Amino acid sequence: MKATAVAPANIAFIKFWGKKDASLRIPFNTSISMNLSGAVTTTTVEFSPKYKIDEVTLIDGVFSDTEKERVVEHLDRIRKKAGMNLHARVATKNSFPKSTGIASSASGFAALTVAAAGALGLNLSEKELTILARLGSGSACRSIPDGFVKWKDTFAYSLYPAHYWDLRDILVIVENTAKDVSSSAGHDLASTSPYFSVRLGNLPERIARVEVALKEKDFQKLGEAIEEDSLDMHQVMQTQNPPLMYWNDATKILMDAAISWRKNGLPVYFTIDAGPNVHLICEGKDEEGVVKVLRSRIPLRGTVKEVIINKPAAGTHLIGKHLF
Ligand code: PMV
Repeated sequence: MKATAVAPANIAFIKFWGKKDASLRIPFNTSISMNLSGAVTTTTVEFSPKYKIDEVTLIDGVFSDTEKERVVEHLDRIRKKAGMNLHARVATKNSFPKSTGIASSASGFAALTVAAAGALGLNLSEKELTILARLGSGSACRSIPDGFVKWKDTFAYSLYPAHYWDLRDILVIVENTAKDVSSSAGHDLASTSPYFSVRLGNLPERIARVEVALKEKDFQKLGEAIEEDSLDMHQVMQTQNPPLMYWNDATKILMDAAISWRKNGLPVYFTIDAGPNVHLICEGKDEEGVVKVLRSRIPLRGTVKEVIINKPAAGTHLIGKHLF
């Protein structure tokens, strides 16, 4: 009764912000994302009578009590589905700093769901796994299917496989310490922003635009919609009560830089989640150009902690090599 899963983080092109049902994590809006090859979580779960309590450890880091409780709650859901009550040992490892807006909860809960279901021999379909992962963390459902993924209401599915379009997410980490306000807490206050209803009204047209851009592989159309949606979500965040300010000075420098690089003919667009780190989205052919201008940008020296180059990635899957 032991299994290990690897799950990618994902970057949303259309963001999920605000929950229609907080406890079931049903979103107000449809979101669309791409799985990230360079930001992954690996999790091993073993259920056994030898464990007297659930043992939850983060390799190379520490989980807070609240994070541990969330993991145990998720194990309870999966145990209930399997009709058993053995305790488990869970060990997990991230290839990137957690809680900095790099969707560690997404890859974390996707890996936990697939590993725990695998350990218990639950024969769940991909759709069922996305539903289960969503209950742990909303955006986790988007890390289960392959490549480019759409999440609507209760479940997520692949729009296109990872190899469909050679895009890059050049993730610029400017802050690698934990954020003050988790996205879970932030979602619950989204509707206090006067711009929240405006966002919801504008989304159907923007989602349609992203879908057409993906279908036609029209990078400019896609990039414009991605950047627009990120700014739109942060407008809502910054006008919530209390306001959520996730950007720092380096975030702003990078946003301005992307706009000016684009003016100079380099097709690159930014998007930002619930943290200050900036995802620079470009096509594979422009990866080198973006990395080059990024490295030559003097005001950024000393501010950029790490750069992770991501390609579109497959979804969550089981592997044979366990962490313990
Ligand atoms: O799944 P959560 O609760 O971590 O929310 C994710 C929220 C954003 O990262 C800001 C947007 C998104 O769709 O990934």
